[in-house]
Amino acid sequence: MNPYQSYDAKIIEIRELTSREKLFTLRFTDREVEESFTFKPGQFVVVDLRGYGEFPISLCSPPTRKPIQLCIRRTGRLTRFIHKFSEGESIGIRGPYGNGFPLEKMEGANLILVAGGLGMAPLRSVLWYAIDTGKFEKIYLFYGTKSYEDILFRDEIIYLLKHGEKLNCHVKLAYEVETPSCIYLEKGFSEKVCKGVVTDLFRGEEFDVNNSYALICGPPVMYKFVIRELLDRGLSPGRIYMTLERRMKCGIGKCGHCVVGTSVSMKYICKDGPVFTYWDALSTRGLI
Ligand SMILES: Cc1cc2nc3c(=O)[nH]c(=O)nc-3n(C[C@H](O)[C@H](O)[C@H](O)COP(=O)(O)OP(=O)(O)OC[C@H]3O[C@@H](n4cnc5c(N)ncnc54)[C@H](O)[C@@H]3O)c2cc1C
Ligand code: FES
Repeated sequence: MNPYQSYDAKIIEIRELTSREKLFTLRFTDREVEESFTFKPGQFVVVDLRGYGEFPISLCSPPTRKPIQLCIRRTGRLTRFIHKFSEGESIGIRGPYGNGFPLEKMEGANLILVAGGLGMAPLRSVLWYAIDTGKFEKIYLFYGTKSYEDILFRDEIIYLLKHGEKLNCHVKLAYEVETPSCIYLEKGFSEKVCKGVVTDLFRGEEFDVNNSYALICGPPVMYKFVIRELLDRGLSPGRIYMTLERRMKCGIGKCGHCVVGTSVSMKYICKDGPVFTYWDALSTRGLI
């Protein structure tokens, strides 16, 4: 595939996940493009709404499954526009872009996925890739959400709360706002669901820090607290991976919109990231 060209993709299904997020399932119109499209969890595509504009979105389905899926939150002009699309209509997709998570080097280790809010979208790609391939020791998912109504992929999360251990996957959920549905969920899974923030979910958990990697995605405020928790437990900065967001235009390192750092250490979020280690953050000013 030509990385600069956007390809026609048909929306084959739209699912409302919450009042703000919709899940778009897409299939490339050109069969050859559909068959050859591959990516790594953590990579993103640029959605091209022909004549209206473009925006980057993480791939939220795993590369082990087709067709591809994007979870899109309605925030402004373009995302509001795509939320009005119907099944059967077409959009343009270019990419995949970015580095993605280096999962091949994590094989055989524990994966500690820490998601906050919409951060669940890219980490869902890792989660199902890890479950589908069975190449990892144990998968932990710690997911912090505002309330029951904001849980992304709620059916999958509840399924994994019930049956995750059979798939080597240990899921825990923290919610901030108490609603009857949250309380009901907490009663059903008293050791896995609690009122609080995502770092509360680490309590009582033991990891072999020499055989674990943490993969974090969430709102900027979350990183500081999660990283401190992981460092306190002895995880080294090189084993902590974060996926970061910046305003982007080209997505391929040409326009300079997403550049951070100084001449000593400069990074393009679109090209060198969006996945970085905590080591990168320590050496690049303004990365997080
Ligand atoms: C690598 C990457 C992956 C992304 N993955 C997803 C995803 O999986 N799902 C998803 O819903 N969104 C994702 N986003 C964010 C998405 O690109 C923006 O929400 C979108 O561009 C907003 O466009 P808009 O025209 O609707 O909003 P605008 O009218 O441009 O902006 C509306 C509001 O959103 C804020 N905003 C816009 N873009 C960003 C951004 N990149 N980061 C933070 N705030 C922003 C603006 O400051 C403003 O407050 C990702 C962004 C990047 C860079
Ligand atoms: S978005 Fe253009 S250089 Fe990164």
